[in-house]
Amino acid sequence: MEHILSVDQFDRPLLLQILSRADQMRLTAERGGDNRLAGRILATVFYEPSTRTRLSFESAMMRLGGNVVSSEMAAETSSAAKGESIEDTVRIIESYADAIVFRHPVAGEISRAAAVSSIPIINGGDGPSEHPTQALIDLYTIQRELGRIDNLNVTLVGDLKYGRAPRSLAMLLTRAEGTALQFVSPPQLEMSPDVLEHLDAAGVAHTTEPDIERAVATADVVYVTRIQKERFPSQEALAEVEGAYQLTAAVARTMKSGSAIMHPLPRVDEIAPDVDELPQAAYFRQARNGVYVRMALLNMLMNRQVDLTA
Ligand code: NCD
Repeated sequence: MEHILSVDQFDRPLLLQILSRADQMRLTAERGGDNRLAGRILATVFYEPSTRTRLSFESAMMRLGGNVVSSEMAAETSSAAKGESIEDTVRIIESYADAIVFRHPVAGEISRAAAVSSIPIINGGDGPSEHPTQALIDLYTIQRELGRIDNLNVTLVGDLKYGRAPRSLAMLLTRAEGTALQFVSPPQLEMSPDVLEHLDAAGVAHTTEPDIERAVATADVVYVTRIQKERFPSQEALAEVEGAYQLTAAVARTMKSGSAIMHPLPRVDEIAPDVDELPQAAYFRQARNGVYVRMALLNMLMNRQVDLTA
């Protein structure tokens, strides 16, 4: 059975196929959607807060004529609150739905769910570990904004330690050619060694640049992330880094023309609001792309058109 658990699963041919199918789904959505998933049901079970991931999956399902059942605050309102294991939860939901999107605060928990599931499981974010569908949206957005996915300078800014979105994107970019990564973060929030090893093994160039002004000047893509305050071990550790970085309009204006500022959202204070007016500000377009990419993924999983097993 095919699941979406990690960006590792996507080799370059599959990735290119997903990008082109997302383009087709953009046209489908603009025409008002269709009914190719009529009669199918998607379950969304989220043990952590979400706006975009849950609602865009649900919107994607409905744009293709499917239906949705949802547990929005599953940690509090599902039987997990009574002590049910995620394996038992899957054994129940697989008779109610044709695929499940899970979000969970504990890394690896969604893979445990997948191990016992007879229906596709999608990782909608597992703790600080992975957010594979976000990385696919990010790559699709890079292609739409820059016209290519290869030979790009990509600057990742912010909480690179606890942020699953920049981790997954960095690992997915090993499938592009000629990527040069720059990391800008407080020293406490640097990209984890396991990701750096992954990049080294794939031959992806990466450097650390403490100065955000220098880092954005040469970038084709500046990918900003918020401090993941819910993952900090203590209030003191959080206080040390709060407000440590911000992309201001003055700095953003020094970016190359044709470059893109991205953010998985939600934004707190790490991109100043007046950056939104700049042509490079791509983050709201990026969020919209989420629906098209997720339409493509749901169709591929539920219509069994592609083998996603790596
Ligand atoms: C991200 C997440 O949940 O990891 N949000 C999202 O899915 N777009 C980023 C974040 O919460 O900072």
